[in-house]
Amino acid sequence: MKHPAPDNDLLGEFLISARSFTEYRAIFALSDADLHGRILDCPGGAASFTAEASALGATVTAADPVYARGPDDLRRLAITETDRGSSWVTAHSTRYRWDWYGSAHRFRAMRHAAAHRFGVDLIEHPNRYVAAELPSLPFPDDSFDLVLSSHLLFTYADRLDADFHLAAMLELARVCVGETRLYPLVDHIGRQLGDLVAYLRKELEDKGIRTSLRETSYEFHHGAHTVLVLN
Ligand SMILES: C[S@@+](CC[C@H](N)C(=O)[O-])C[C@H]1O[C@@H](n2cnc3c(N)ncnc32)[C@H](O)[C@@H]1O
Repeated sequence: MKHPAPDNDLLGEFLISARSFTEYRAIFALSDADLHGRILDCPGGAASFTAEASALGATVTAADPVYARGPDDLRRLAITETDRGSSWVTAHSTRYRWDWYGSAHRFRAMRHAAAHRFGVDLIEHPNRYVAAELPSLPFPDDSFDLVLSSHLLFTYADRLDADFHLAAMLELARVCVGETRLYPLVDHIGRQLGDLVAYLRKELEDKGIRTSLRETSYEFHHGAHTVLVLN
């Protein structure tokens, strides 16, 4: 995994982004029942989903290679990366729909709050954050009832090839006894990836994994309103 430098744009590095519970809930249409099982967030990044869902009583594990870093380094990184991501989005604002966030200012504030919440939880509950790198996770088969995977697969299709996507999705499905939900199905500059999605669905179906496309009410990149579900 490449480590980010604060002044690089999103083309060179994986962003360590910090989505909130509210964003995850909207993206993945999470029901109260979804929050009762064992949940894996992979990649967890600096998202506050794990902290906030755990505070509501959920059992959540976050996995990401960046968790191999020390907590102080990671807390700093969560903030600088939030600034990097927010600056990118502001500079490319026409690529996005703003009705969900309201404004770039509110977007940045929400991500900053999430990054702070992540940093506090990382110190208080380090056991929730497991350093792990797809396509190989350190969990037994069927460890989770729900797996959420946001903004790695498809987002970085310009540097992660189809073989990586397939191996990663098979691994996410291996550790999940219920649904694995993936979003978005566009890349980080908003290109639709219909051919890649179709190829992966066929490969997964051939291996006995059912796939479906589910509409979500959340849409930030124009046209990114579909979740891929494996089960
Ligand atoms: C854009 S962030 C998404 C974080 C979070 N899911 C969110 O939506 O805010 C992408 C994350 O993917 C992580 N990552 C990069 N390579 C990975 C891999 N091979 N396996 C798992 N995570 C990886 C990065 O460290 C980064 O935290």
